[in-house]
Amino acid sequence: MTSSFNVHDAAGYEQLMGRWSQRLAPLFIDFAGLADGEKVLEVGCGTGSLTFALARNAALRKIVAIDYSPVFVEETARRNTDPRIEVQQADACALPFQSGSFDRALALLVLHFVPEAEKAIAEMRRVVRPGGVVAAAVWDHIGGMPGMRMMVDTVAALSESGRQLRALYCFKPMMQPGEMERAFVAQGLADVTQTELMIRMDYRNFHDYWAPIAAGEGPLGQYMAALDPVERERTEAAVRDAYEAGRPDGPRSFANVAWACRGVVP
Ligand SMILES: C[S@@+](CC[C@H](N)C(=O)[O-])C[C@H]1O[C@@H](n2cnc3c(N)ncnc32)[C@H](O)[C@@H]1O
Repeated sequence: MTSSFNVHDAAGYEQLMGRWSQRLAPLFIDFAGLADGEKVLEVGCGTGSLTFALARNAALRKIVAIDYSPVFVEETARRNTDPRIEVQQADACALPFQSGSFDRALALLVLHFVPEAEKAIAEMRRVVRPGGVVAAAVWDHIGGMPGMRMMVDTVAALSESGRQLRALYCFKPMMQPGEMERAFVAQGLADVTQTELMIRMDYRNFHDYWAPIAAGEGPLGQYMAALDPVERERTEAAVRDAYEAGRPDGPRSFANVAWACRGVVP
């Protein structure tokens, strides 16, 4: 299996994550760096949060965005109006590009959904020219996402399947401290540095938080979709209680931390 990401619907993804990855993209670009005239590869573009943030840099020559999911390729292509952007379906673990054909390869919130993430890093390194940069960011599900931990801890307290969801969710590839840095070094990248990027996810109310998950989006949505109606109702009530935290329903804001790593192709 080359991707563990569950794609239901592009609009649902946008509400679950795209609106927040738009906040993360500029921080990630600052960390990854860009230079005038570059040809950049984006791996795992989703609905284009990073793609269109990159395109705000007028001096870039070309942006090639790939995704494994045809749903996302279609959606990013549909939204695109910039002739420098090319969107295509491809697998991060077998990139259909010649060696050394890009100045930079970036992956935002992708590697934790690639079971063989090391292969994807090796491929990103292969397609970047010597002296070019490979950079990636993944969420820190276990220690840096209290809004989503709130759900997985709640379901873990309710059932054995919830405990299994939590174990999977908290230990996806590249999420442990130093793990991505070690993988970058193991794939032969030089001058490897890792940092943490933080954004907040601000919800208007419980419905705003819950609707994409209830609709089956992402790994938590996939879990909900597999429950029977009684269990779904019990789970929703328990997560609502955790969201409200003893106050009336309304806005809640959660900090979210991503690990980001960058290395240079020798
Ligand atoms: C959480 S989304 C991130 C999307 C986008 N980069 C963003 O920040 O909003 C993860 C993305 O990785 C893509 N993906 C997962 N495995 C992949 C693979 N092997 N090759 C290419 N894309 C992959 C998924 O299809 C999905 O679009």
